[in-house]
Amino acid sequence: MDTNMQQKTTIKGKVHYVGVNDRNKQLFEGMWPLPYGVSYNSYLIDDELVALVDTVDVCYFEIFLRKIKNIIGDRPINYLIINHMEPDHSGSIRLIKQHYPDIVIVGNKQTFGMIEGFYGVTGEQYLVKDGDYLALGHHKLKFYLTPMVHWPETMMTYDETDGVLFSGDGFGCFGTLDGGFIDSRMNIDKYWDEMVRYYSNIVGKYGSPVQKALEKLAGLHISAICSTHGPVWMENIERVVGIYDKLSRYDADEGVVIVYGSMYGNTEQMAETIASELSACGIKNIVMHNVSKSNPSYILMDIFKYKGLIIGSPTYSNQIFPEVEAILSKILVRDMKGRYLGYFGSFCWAGAAVKRMAEFAEKSKFELIGDPVEMKQSMKDITYTQCENLAKAMAD
Ligand code: FEO
Repeated sequence: MDTNMQQKTTIKGKVHYVGVNDRNKQLFEGMWPLPYGVSYNSYLIDDELVALVDTVDVCYFEIFLRKIKNIIGDRPINYLIINHMEPDHSGSIRLIKQHYPDIVIVGNKQTFGMIEGFYGVTGEQYLVKDGDYLALGHHKLKFYLTPMVHWPETMMTYDETDGVLFSGDGFGCFGTLDGGFIDSRMNIDKYWDEMVRYYSNIVGKYGSPVQKALEKLAGLHISAICSTHGPVWMENIERVVGIYDKLSRYDADEGVVIVYGSMYGNTEQMAETIASELSACGIKNIVMHNVSKSNPSYILMDIFKYKGLIIGSPTYSNQIFPEVEAILSKILVRDMKGRYLGYFGSFCWAGAAVKRMAEFAEKSKFELIGDPVEMKQSMKDITYTQCENLAKAMAD
């Protein structure tokens, strides 16, 4: 390979980037917006024996194959290491197997059933347990099983020779790789918020498994983190690991997220009153989300960022406002902890929203702050006072 070509694929030594960018998909997993797109990262280790680490979404197979052949020409790939089976990474397994029929697939006992189930692919397997090795020549790979980061079969592959960690979804983020793929050669500003959004949307439920994985990896000398999404991290490893550590402990910054629904602006006035009082009490980070406009992806991101959460809802058809209900459900699914919770609601002729939020408060692991506020029809003097008191209690 000439020097120019090397610059375009090489991460370290014989380790190459062969991933692709998706700027077409609107919603990741059918739910999460992708304003900056997403990359599906795959890596090739061009040693005496050649190993491919994960694949890409099947839509991009031809581009993927061309990138592989640009590096190894007509040499075969000996091993396909599957760190994660979600189809954004496993989607090209069947076509890779058709192209390289002698390829040996490397996975753990959870992996192979999924490969057959999704793709009908069987054949020679290299079954690994936690701590097993695979030698490629110069490179020696060690496998760390990291279940539930993000599926049960997820594992990470550590290249002991160069200190490169192939981490699956772990340490990943949304956002395509526009030109460069190594953090030190890119403007990486956009990826920090996209990392929190990715974590909170995709991995958010699995804080405890992420903590276990971080403990397992703690002693490793890591020179590069090669995740399945986003930049290859070489210059910012400490910051990236710190973000995943903080998020998976459900630790958060000082600030309050106010999430509310409102049909005609009356419940919104409760939210405005609370926000204004929070500010008067010295809270600087106040984020307001009207559920009818804000996408849940961004609401979750902010709830993961800040310690305080105040939720408000009108009553609708004798239920809580449906878009607020959807957020409550998403919070509960993520098993979040360590937040201060307040809530308020409204009704016209019979109240239901505040009752539903009381049930949510009971189920959640949050600390309830202040007295819930319930308003009939529109703001009265007493409502202003009650909303201000809720804000003061939260600010305290
Ligand atoms: Fe990017 Fe869990 O797959």
